[in-house]
Amino acid sequence: MEESFDHAHVVTSSDSATSTQNEMTAQIEALHRAYREGVAAGARVEDKPRIDFAPYRSSVLRHPTKDLRHADPETIELTSPAFGTRDVHPLEADLTIQHGGEPIGERMIVTGRVVDGSGRPLAGQLVEIWQANASGRYVHKRDQHPAPLDPNFSGVGRCLTDADGNYSFTTIRPGPYPWKNHHNAWRPAHIHFSLFGTAFTQRLVTQMYFPGDPLFPLDPIYQAIVDEDARRRLVATYDHDVTRHEWCTGYRWDIVLSGRGRTLFENDLGADHDDDHENGDHR
Ligand SMILES: [Fe+2]
Repeated sequence: MEESFDHAHVVTSSDSATSTQNEMTAQIEALHRAYREGVAAGARVEDKPRIDFAPYRSSVLRHPTKDLRHADPETIELTSPAFGTRDVHPLEADLTIQHGGEPIGERMIVTGRVVDGSGRPLAGQLVEIWQANASGRYVHKRDQHPAPLDPNFSGVGRCLTDADGNYSFTTIRPGPYPWKNHHNAWRPAHIHFSLFGTAFTQRLVTQMYFPGDPLFPLDPIYQAIVDEDARRRLVATYDHDVTRHEWCTGYRWDIVLSGRGRTLFENDLGADHDDDHENGDHR
């Protein structure tokens, strides 16, 4: 999980925070314009984040420069992590009851359905989340954002999908928070998600965002996904049917996993594997 913790991505060079937001936004827009022109000219639609997206400063030095080492699926996990009903307690899906009192902030339910590339529900899937509190502060020693910690909120939860692939968390809406990518850099509010597909090797980590966030166009991490449709698939929708009378607001975010697992079962790690990898993101 620490790999995905944004503050672990902080650039430490002395000039890392000297770029202005305007410079950063101009770089983002130029890269997006080049992408759109490329697609219009026949280039492939990209639905994954670029691993070396220059405005996301630390990605320039941090991204892999060689092809990933392809492991033989016969020698490693082929089957999904299996959790029984006693391994993950239903109360672990409620992030608002982990301490002695109520956490501060907007109480909300985040729910959705996990399905494979064919639209079939994935039951019994472990879904893990972690997030900042309402003030935009993580319980983490590297998070030095001078916003208050909440003694009643740790910001971590997990659940198993039900028979129809549904997950549901009760939590507090996270706040935006600053990071050191450039001067006055702020992350849009988000919740980190981890899911396993049909094997340990398919663990997917992503972020869910909230509709209408004014920080979207300014955020190099969100904008590292250059395709607009792919970005939109990371944004939850407000759902008044999920909202509960005099209790909390509700958001819905469905997650679509590819059918990559079936390909692995067929021991096909050639071109099709690469294709599946391209599609193996969240929606
Ligand atoms: Fe984060």
